[in-house]
Amino acid sequence: MNQFTIKEDHGDELRWKLEQLSELTEEDFIRLLEEETFPIDQFFSYYRCAIMEIETKFRVLNEQFSLRGEKNPIEFISSRIKSYASIMHKLHSRQLPRTLDSIEQGLDDIAGIRVVCSFRDDIYRLAESFLRQDDITLLEKKDYIASPKPNGYRSLHLIVTVPIFLERETRLVKAEVQLRTLAMDFWASVEHKLRYKKDLPPETLAMLSNDLKRCAEQSADWDDKMQNIKDLLQG
Ligand code: GTP
Ligand code: MG
Repeated sequence: MNQFTIKEDHGDELRWKLEQLSELTEEDFIRLLEEETFPIDQFFSYYRCAIMEIETKFRVLNEQFSLRGEKNPIEFISSRIKSYASIMHKLHSRQLPRTLDSIEQGLDDIAGIRVVCSFRDDIYRLAESFLRQDDITLLEKKDYIASPKPNGYRSLHLIVTVPIFLERETRLVKAEVQLRTLAMDFWASVEHKLRYKKDLPPETLAMLSNDLKRCAEQSADWDDKMQNIKDLLQG
């Protein structure tokens, strides 16, 4: 159990603390910083390790698929640790306490791995091989390719646990894996950038949502056509 609590400080209290800090010797200041930040560094390091494990698993699968004479199915992998600001935002919106325990138990996407493929069938083949591995446990699967979101978003999402092997213990760490084609990734990246521009009149927003949805459908057609070409070429 991790009892470390992220503190919420305001105004005068914070200023008073900063004054106290400025009176510390350099050694004491460094010691204090290390003591205060160690639990947080350690906590996030578990998620960085989980990302390393999962990225390696996909790289190994990519290598193996290409040995069979298929071109590398993975175009690229990108990973991220959720930012402090997004974590705070999500804790707030889910009314969860600001503790490391609550982050660990309540949020599934502190570690995020995105695997981008050329073809749709590669997504399912990679996901199947990944989930078949003994040390991966599937907690949740959302197939937004078979059932796209109303706005047109498509991707396969897997929430899993992966063990990380540390000096004295093995820990199971949660991660979110998103698998998509290049076309789905292109659409999602652009849509994500536009999503925050909310200071537009409602009718303009409705028109843009419609346009974005049409783009999503067109890019799904593109994926269909590419998949057909691949199937024909492979016989
Ligand atoms: P949150 O994790 O709070 O978003 O809720 P959830 O777990 O129900 O979300 P979901 O699994 O549907 O999506 C999680 C992630 O998928 C997001 O953080 C995004 O990276 C991505 N995603 C989901 N929907 C969209 C979308 O409409 N547009 C884009 N660009 N990305 C999306
Ligand atoms: Mg989520």
